Amino acid sequence: MRREVGVGLVERALKLVENQWPELAEAPMRVPLEYYRSEEIAAREREVFETSPLALVAACEISETHDYQVREVLGRSVLITRDGDGVAHAFLNYCRHRGAEPVRGRGNARSFACPYHSWTYDSCGRLVGMPHRDRHQGLDLAELGLVELPSEERHGFVWAVLRPGAPIDVADHLGELDAEIGSLGCTGMNYYPALSNEPLAANWKSVAEGLLEGLHVPYVHPDTFALNPQAAGVDLAFYDAIGPHVRYGMPMFDAAGAERLRATPTEDWDPAASIGCVWWIAPGLLLAQELYGLIYADLTPGPDVRQARFRYGWLSPTLEAPDGQPSPEAMAARAARAVGQDRPVWETCGRGLAQGEHGYALIGRNEKGVQLLHRSIAGQTGFQGLSYA
Ligand code: FES
Ligand SMILES: [Fe+2]
Repeated sequence: MRREVGVGLVERALKLVENQWPELAEAPMRVPLEYYRSEEIAAREREVFETSPLALVAACEISETHDYQVREVLGRSVLITRDGDGVAHAFLNYCRHRGAEPVRGRGNARSFACPYHSWTYDSCGRLVGMPHRDRHQGLDLAELGLVELPSEERHGFVWAVLRPGAPIDVADHLGELDAEIGSLGCTGMNYYPALSNEPLAANWKSVAEGLLEGLHVPYVHPDTFALNPQAAGVDLAFYDAIGPHVRYGMPMFDAAGAERLRATPTEDWDPAASIGCVWWIAPGLLLAQELYGLIYADLTPGPDVRQARFRYGWLSPTLEAPDGQPSPEAMAARAARAVGQDRPVWETCGRGLAQGEHGYALIGRNEKGVQLLHRSIAGQTGFQGLSYA
């Protein structure tokens, strides 16, 4: 993050702690239940997901040449590879013969033989072999590679757009946040998975809401986040909409820490140590600073409006924990425990929003992150129904 930006955020965090009062939205927001239920709205959201760059894997998940990983994304099987020159690719994992999935899971391989009739592809997606080749004279193998998706490796992630031939420009997508996300140093981090790509029985937007507020933490996670410095003042936070993205930040200091900061010249402030941020990168990527690393999570709509898919893990800058901190494995386990605690409430919200007769969900003034999230999604899909109480 640019130093001026960081200093400005520390200044805002100081005000929160000194006043013991969060940055508030202007009014409570009413979100019609239709927003979580309508298939027509879901189709527009799907369009947004299918045309936006999605951070499918952390680059370190395919760190070596010929590493590969298969992911399920919006109902598609996607193969992510790193070719012999170190270039990452994303392909629709569907065999050009009769459509079977040539690759499963993850690993390291120079070629992939489809399990059905053994047509074989390399890590650049080229069809490089087929049994009984002599029966297929006249076929041009060069035209029968896996269908490649537009992809780009940037800031420690492999991003892809799910539509072949569509443009991709991750820097443009991140806009003003591009340098800030780059400064997190994810390129050199290691990924510790917590949830592989779990189905959740709730609308994806209802799950997303829970990632942009800390109000539920003392009730749902009474012990899980006790180590986090901000755990005591859960709604003391600042929020910004940056293009379609949302930044939600918290002070990492208490009242005594605020006094110490005030006594320190601004040029000696260390924004990275004083605030913790959560970035919601539209449409479904979550990055959240937690202790010495980052949560990296990816939320997508499921096959219908009542289902979502959630992939969740932990990025660590080191293999060993800093002094007195839990190990990266323990951080991933803690993340999995937290999602395990969230899941029952998310799923009951899912039922309540799908079946309730209460007309609208109410997002309070101190849930400004959630309000900004819905404004962003509604703005991208043209949904006109958000209103203010
Ligand atoms: S479907 Fe893949 S080889 Fe036949
Ligand atoms: Fe939670």
